[in-house]
Amino acid sequence: MSLKERDVSETSEAEIAVHWGEEEYYYPSAKFIAQANMTDPKVFERFSLENFPNCFKEYADLLSWYEYWHTTLDTSDAPCWKWFVGGRINASYNCIDRHLAKNKNKTAIHFVPEPEEERTDHITYQELYVRVNEFAAILKDFCGLKAGDTVTLHMPMVAELPITMLACARLGIIHSQVFGGFSGKACSDRIVDSSSNVLITMDAYYRNGQLIDHKEKADIAVAEAAKEKHKVDKVLVWQRYPGTYSSQTPMVQGRDFFVNDLLKDYYGARVDPVEMPAEAPLFLMYTSGTTGKPKGAQHSTGGYLAYVAGTSKYIQDIHPEDVYWCMADIGWITGHSYIVYGPLSLCASSVIYEGVPTYPDAGRPWRIAQNLDVNIFHTAPTAIRALRKAGPDEPLKYNFHFKHMTTVGEPIEPEVWKWYYQSIGKGEAAIVDTWWQTENGGFLCSTIPAINPMKPGSAGPGVPGIHPIVYDDDGNVVPPGSGKAGNICIQNPWPGSFQTIWHDRDRYVSQYYETYCKDPKSKRWQDWPYKTGDAAVVAEDGYVRILGRIDDVINVSGHRLGTKEIESAALIVAEVAEAAVVPVKHEVKGKEPDLYVVLMPGHTPSDDLAKKVQDAIVTEIGAIARPRMVWIVADMPKTRSGKIMRRVLSAISNGTEVGDVMTLANPEIVSEITKMVKEKLGSAKRS
Ligand code: PRX
Repeated sequence: MSLKERDVSETSEAEIAVHWGEEEYYYPSAKFIAQANMTDPKVFERFSLENFPNCFKEYADLLSWYEYWHTTLDTSDAPCWKWFVGGRINASYNCIDRHLAKNKNKTAIHFVPEPEEERTDHITYQELYVRVNEFAAILKDFCGLKAGDTVTLHMPMVAELPITMLACARLGIIHSQVFGGFSGKACSDRIVDSSSNVLITMDAYYRNGQLIDHKEKADIAVAEAAKEKHKVDKVLVWQRYPGTYSSQTPMVQGRDFFVNDLLKDYYGARVDPVEMPAEAPLFLMYTSGTTGKPKGAQHSTGGYLAYVAGTSKYIQDIHPEDVYWCMADIGWITGHSYIVYGPLSLCASSVIYEGVPTYPDAGRPWRIAQNLDVNIFHTAPTAIRALRKAGPDEPLKYNFHFKHMTTVGEPIEPEVWKWYYQSIGKGEAAIVDTWWQTENGGFLCSTIPAINPMKPGSAGPGVPGIHPIVYDDDGNVVPPGSGKAGNICIQNPWPGSFQTIWHDRDRYVSQYYETYCKDPKSKRWQDWPYKTGDAAVVAEDGYVRILGRIDDVINVSGHRLGTKEIESAALIVAEVAEAAVVPVKHEVKGKEPDLYVVLMPGHTPSDDLAKKVQDAIVTEIGAIARPRMVWIVADMPKTRSGKIMRRVLSAISNGTEVGDVMTLANPEIVSEITKMVKEKLGSAKRS
């Protein structure tokens, strides 16, 4: 869809945003620069397009290879790029075994349980090695899994999650971790799409002070998959408290197994890492797209690991002696790349926090940072806004000092950036605003913290080896400094980029490469710019400011939700005839969905019905997609060709001008809906 055609509220936002002034630069401290991993400005020359693709050897050389590659980039199947072809490598070996000689006693993972009275678990590299090997033995011998098989993980934020991922990686098994907050149905869709016969889950976990039953979602997932004629043979259940079952749902004989029980037969087991081809898939990460069906972004082993190791070292500035805390969930790509694979490949100590940042109060993250002496912190604007709202003065009460901080996931307002810098960073930390996507494996745009100054609200230039370009709808280049927004693309492939959409190459090509492809028959990478689907403005200094998605995707708390996914979930309710979802500005989450529905004839609007629709969405997708409101309306504003005008609904929901609606097929409905929304929101505010 082109910028002109798009019909969500981003249209006007993008245009308004272009008129914002550019912010002043902030410079990193001399102290930060003195210790930084990357201080040589020539890095941009080394990674210039002239030196592409061989420049990426610098990243691949951060890893240990069984065998070196013969071809850096194979473009013969364009645009499915193959990196480091001929190379052989194992991701688990690179994140664990190779660190043992010098660092076996070093903490690999600090697991911080949500209940504050439970002690933090410090898992050394040796302990990680033992636990990953034992679990890998279960996968291999008990489950009969082998390289190339897929398994679905539906796990919360616990140390057992990276243990499970690394055990899969050890054997070349492709893992597909589904965000723990997603529903059993959402998990089932991903099980079926990835053809997994084994599901790995946990009985329960803590969130906001509650021990939440999680195993019940596994039962739903398996039952839903069965409806699609897909059989899950085994469900492996980790226990939040080993030896105690914390779920209400019964274990199914012959299908469900406690990992803790199985382990008894595998204590001390060792499993050799399997030497995998560099281009073998390491994992799938499902993400929302413009159509209802989530797509499995397929990430490679060698290219992906090289890219996350390189960006973790130079953009995150991770040194082996650092204590690094990324507060994202491992169920999202940020967690895969920048909690697990990036930091562990560099032998850092990575913090995993189970619960919500504001539990039991807004001082929690700062107590964790103080106790573990965290010095690198990584989070999203949504969390920064929540912490600022709940406890603006809390960070100053604790003795912690970050040298470096990251923001990721959505545009950060300059005001929020400045609070992050002053209050959390105490004016000492270098900040990187990292822009990228699930499909990309790692960062696309960011400042290099010791080289480029920071500019609030702007991500920065392309990171080394990433060459962004902005096109207008007709494929003309929008030059930096023109003050115009356009579709931001990347001119060249890079090792972290996904290889394809799992079993859907056509969708991969059409969604990401077709629009600006110069010649569909070409085998040259130069002819295949990658379309990100974001609108952006590039300033004269080359800094990129992202304005938001240009397709039908809503970014809630830094996570993409497909509007079609939410609308399809609403339509499961029999009384619903039509559904349209629009993004509404939210102080903390960035955006949240607002849902409009039209009922089937013969049904009367009621609060119960609205609740039923809301529940259906939570069941289908998860609480993250819960609409702010379900507005039951008599009709949708429509164009004469019958297209729902989401832009109009979005303006109503956001309380902005709806503009000229006289060309609609049914203009009178606009004032009717506006009145209803205003009245209800007005009375909600008063009460
Ligand atoms: O619109 C961009 C926004 O989030 C989208 C990618 O979402 P997802 O695949 O869930 O990955 C999130 C974590 C990488 C992008 O298309 N986005 C991500 N980071 C930023 C951002 N928007 C502005 N600034 C960012 N730093």
